[in-house]
Amino acid sequence: MNPETASRASAAFPAQALREQFPALLRAGSCCFFDNAAGAQVPQMVLDAVNQHLLEHNVQRGGRYRQSIAVDDMIRRAREHVGTFVNARRPEEVAFGMNATSFIRLISLAIGQGLGRRNEIVVTDLDHEANVATWLVLERLGATFRWWRMREDGCLHTEDLRPLLSERTRLVACTLASNALGSVLAARATADLTHAAGGELFLDAVHYAPHAPIDVQAFDCDYLVCSGYKIFAPHMGFLWGRYELLAQLDTFREDFIPDAPPGKIEAGTFIYENVAGMAAAIEYFGALGAALSGRSADGARPRRAELCVAMEGIRSYEQGLSLRLLELLEECGAEIYGLRAARGTAQRLPTVLFNLPGVAPARVTEAAARADIGIRDGHMYAPRLMKRLGLAVDSGAVRVSLAHYNTAPELERLRTTLAQLRRS
Ligand SMILES: Cc1ncc(COP(=O)(O)O)c(C=O)c1O
Repeated sequence: MNPETASRASAAFPAQALREQFPALLRAGSCCFFDNAAGAQVPQMVLDAVNQHLLEHNVQRGGRYRQSIAVDDMIRRAREHVGTFVNARRPEEVAFGMNATSFIRLISLAIGQGLGRRNEIVVTDLDHEANVATWLVLERLGATFRWWRMREDGCLHTEDLRPLLSERTRLVACTLASNALGSVLAARATADLTHAAGGELFLDAVHYAPHAPIDVQAFDCDYLVCSGYKIFAPHMGFLWGRYELLAQLDTFREDFIPDAPPGKIEAGTFIYENVAGMAAAIEYFGALGAALSGRSADGARPRRAELCVAMEGIRSYEQGLSLRLLELLEECGAEIYGLRAARGTAQRLPTVLFNLPGVAPARVTEAAARADIGIRDGHMYAPRLMKRLGLAVDSGAVRVSLAHYNTAPELERLRTTLAQLRRS
């Protein structure tokens, strides 16, 4: 998108009106939530769905009484909604559970059972550790590893993946977007290379999901994992996998559970009220997409087209925020890790990692906290990335991570705080 179109899209995006749908933002008064990569706020619709579940049908599914039937209906609806959100071929490709990390481990455990000659796994030095350590642990089951290293620009380049692949490649595990640097992966090109070598592609969509449309068919990936609490839903996770692959996976399940997705992936009881909240979060995106398209929302069943309009609207609005954030950090003399303003914002999300020369990361976040701005310092659960950047893992760097309810005036407050800190 050219800068002019991006700025028109930004101007049209109803960020202020959307903020009013988030009670936590209203309650927090002047606080700027700029730590969204660690968890976002939830809209009223999500709160209502969680409450309604607990008040009206907080029972086990699978019974013949009306409350239990309502739980089954809610789970079916949530699965359909999430399936539409990621563009699954069928809802059974979606499984619900605790969080992304436990799903990555579940798939790694299952894949680890069947490693033969094809035992090479590609991991990256930019990923959240949840998508690295969970694969490295397969060494004891005979896996070997190839490292796909990011380049100096903070991006993974597919040309660097090509030489790592061979007839021994079992899987490539990488993130759709870096939770520290905000850089976005070329998903389809990665899938094409991986498949040409006969391997499978596992995508971590946790950081990417609140910022842009997910399309597992267009990405042509094989597995994709996501967390609810990053996409304006409660704490929970979901996994999408190609049906045929999930059907073949060797997962733990009790004997009486059929060996078919999604049941074979969902051991035990998951947190139903949070799944109800997840469904409502997708309805929130559906309502946003309908509003941006000038239509009235069919809240009960968000359409794929409207979800795409919502996520494209968020993407273009956030590109404006990214640009302003990068510019203000440059004005304050920050050292930015990853893509800078001059490279534009098409390849990045509004997540920026930086340090102020001569100021410890913790001092920056403390000063921001005194100004009622929530940002984070540390390693961002990406210790290998910190080492690559030449940073001490203990102290790391400072991250500002924005969501679509953040605004340009909030960024001005950050600029003032950082400028004061530089002067002091
Ligand atoms: C990119 C990425 N992957 C994985 C995770 C882990 O997600 P979860 O907390 O749902 O296990 C996170 C959490 O911050 C993340 O940002």
